[in-house]
Amino acid sequence: MNKIKIAVIGCGGISGCHLGGYSRNKDVEIYALCDINKERAEGRAKEYGVPLERVFTDKCEMFKALPEIDAVSVCTWNNAHAECTFAALEAGKHVLCEKPMAMNAEEAKAMKAAAEKAGKLLMIGFVRRHGNDARVVKDFIDNGYFGDIYYAKAQYLRRNGNPGGWFGDKSRSGGGPLIDLGVHVIDLVRYLVGRPKPVSAYGATFHKLGNRPDVKGARGYSAADAGDKAKEICDVEDLASALIRFDNGMTLSVEASFSLNTKSDIGNIELYGDKAGAKMDPELHLYTNINGYMANVDFASSTALSFSGLFDNEINHYVDCVLGRAESMAPAEDGVILMKILDAIYKSAATGHEVVIE
Ligand SMILES: NC(=O)c1ccc[n+]([C@@H]2O[C@H](COP(=O)([O-])OP(=O)(O)OC[C@H]3O[C@@H](n4cnc5c(N)ncnc54)[C@H](O)[C@@H]3O)[C@@H](O)[C@H]2O)c1
Repeated sequence: MNKIKIAVIGCGGISGCHLGGYSRNKDVEIYALCDINKERAEGRAKEYGVPLERVFTDKCEMFKALPEIDAVSVCTWNNAHAECTFAALEAGKHVLCEKPMAMNAEEAKAMKAAAEKAGKLLMIGFVRRHGNDARVVKDFIDNGYFGDIYYAKAQYLRRNGNPGGWFGDKSRSGGGPLIDLGVHVIDLVRYLVGRPKPVSAYGATFHKLGNRPDVKGARGYSAADAGDKAKEICDVEDLASALIRFDNGMTLSVEASFSLNTKSDIGNIELYGDKAGAKMDPELHLYTNINGYMANVDFASSTALSFSGLFDNEINHYVDCVLGRAESMAPAEDGVILMKILDAIYKSAATGHEVVIE
């Protein structure tokens, strides 16, 4: 079988995870690269053995010069997801677009419509759906272990984790920790419980600590274009908190921060059902009744999210979908729904009122 020809648009940090996954997939040839920053794209080309004549700074020129490309990964700043996706779909390519799908729901809907018009796959990079931890929890949920899950909590909190660069620049990111980190855990909970439809959101965002230029010492997170931390733009929220209601009666409480005066970074998901509850923090713990007694259940082997292989799972699934061997488990429709939730939270934060999600 001929290998599918993949192009990656946006050759910064996360492109390494996509390219690594593609390089380990026997059905793929990493064929072309594109970044508005030529040096960055050429660096990746050398790393993955892509000839320099297949490196571009403009995605439209790339599609014109190389019509044989089959599919792409869009790994750009958030504000370029839509334009790169449109260009790829119009050129007849399948698209795996990084999260968040877009800057807002309006863009996301147009992207979904473009995919339908082109008759091509548009998959969203909801990578947490592909985690080993998600697989275990989903197995319990699908077997009815928790009963009716009526309440959930999701936290993705960083104490000093504003990556700087474009992440703090709303015109390129669309927002702060809510759109960058919250998107992962809101989507994960929604996916795990069977993709209910959101009906409303009530949220608050805070701009108190910024990117903490006063903090001394090393930072744990850094965008490829991060410059002098004290001078760069930071007009995104540093904390977001929200309550989201779904049509199945479930309510999800979510918190996401780049900067927060808390002891340590937290990644936590809790699910509360009428038969049992669960906490993923990161090991999975179950809370239930056994033989009439309240009991806590731990696992004999690790259930914690392992980053090793996580992106490979996503990339392998995308390749299987492109080859018609699987149906996308992260369709554009789910990206649109997530953007509607995020839009509603930001609107609620701005107005101080609950926002109905249509
Ligand atoms: N799934 C995850 O866990 C995860 C983790 C990190 C980032 N991301 C997402 O991946 C995307 C990229 O993040 P990153 O950390 O790699 O950022 P980055 O800044 O390291 O890389 C982004 C690259 O996109 C390039 N770019 C911007 N606009 C472009 C355009 N119009 N055409 C071509 N190239 C363009 C930039 O020059 C840059 O090199 C974001 O959407 C982010 O939310 C996802």
